[in-house]
Amino acid sequence: MIAQVPPTSLLARALRAPAEGLFRNRVMAISSGKGGVGKTNVVAGLALALAKQGQRVVIVDADFGLANLDILLGLSPQNTLEQVLRGEKVLEEILVEGPHGIRIVPASSGVQELTRLDGAAELRLVQGLQRVAEDADWMLVDTAAGVHDSVVKLLMAAQQVLLVATPEPASLVDAYAVLKVLHLRDAEKPVRLVVNNAQTAEEAGETIQQLDLATRRFLGRGVEALGAIPHDPWLLQAVREQRSVVDRFPDSPSARAFESLARTLIEGGEWDPASLPALWETPQH
Ligand SMILES: Nc1ncnc2c1ncn2[C@@H]1O[C@H](COP(=O)(O)OP(=O)(O)OP(=O)(O)O)[C@@H](O)[C@H]1O
Ligand SMILES: [Mg+2]
Repeated sequence: MIAQVPPTSLLARALRAPAEGLFRNRVMAISSGKGGVGKTNVVAGLALALAKQGQRVVIVDADFGLANLDILLGLSPQNTLEQVLRGEKVLEEILVEGPHGIRIVPASSGVQELTRLDGAAELRLVQGLQRVAEDADWMLVDTAAGVHDSVVKLLMAAQQVLLVATPEPASLVDAYAVLKVLHLRDAEKPVRLVVNNAQTAEEAGETIQQLDLATRRFLGRGVEALGAIPHDPWLLQAVREQRSVVDRFPDSPSARAFESLARTLIEGGEWDPASLPALWETPQH
């Protein structure tokens, strides 16, 4: 059988396919309405912060259009998911080890559709992900931006969604669009918001409030925040060095914000808005 199957659809089915309870770890897809708001940086920063706090983390790069997680972390994967789907490799063979023992399932840029994919390809992916998930506490899935059907499928397959937005009006409007699409598919879908790249704590707080108000008014359900990450020149410097800011500049505002997000996730508690201003304090180096 020759079929054109987007890898995202296969991944979505693979994440959902296992019987209840097989994925004991927490599968979280990172999403945004608008592109370029910092999803990949959030995935990398959060993964590192979780790992530094003793969690076992696997990242799945599911942005098949512009995969760049490996570049961000200075890794050079020899193999890609494409080879697993084609049956040339098993998932373990393509895993790349990153800092603090995080493991990355790399995508391959520009591979939107694969030919000759069938049930066997899906099974290889399901079984591979299950094996990898066996010894992980968190599986973070980096996705492409927007509400393309294949991305939404992936978001619906994950146990929870982390929506990244910046205070920019276009980002807010597009984040609302994602929330609406997810809400229409499943009104109970666990979705949390991270505001990235805010210049001030006030700006971050207002962004959270605006989205919460809009969703309350139009969808009848507010959106919970997981936290916020300041605009941070140290993050840009770390990106240039192909290192994670959490590793390279652990005292920088964004690194401290990632640590705080990770703590909230691990403790399973609610985010405290009163913790916002401290993140914008001048870093000490
Ligand atoms: N908190 C921040 N402070 C400063 N710069 C940031 C911050 N977050 C992200 N950036 C910068 O914004 C740009 C986009 O980030 P990133 O690639 O993570 O976005 P993305 O949402 O994954 O993009 P895409 O939609 O293309 O996948 C990068 O140059 C990154 O370094
Ligand atoms: Mg990205």
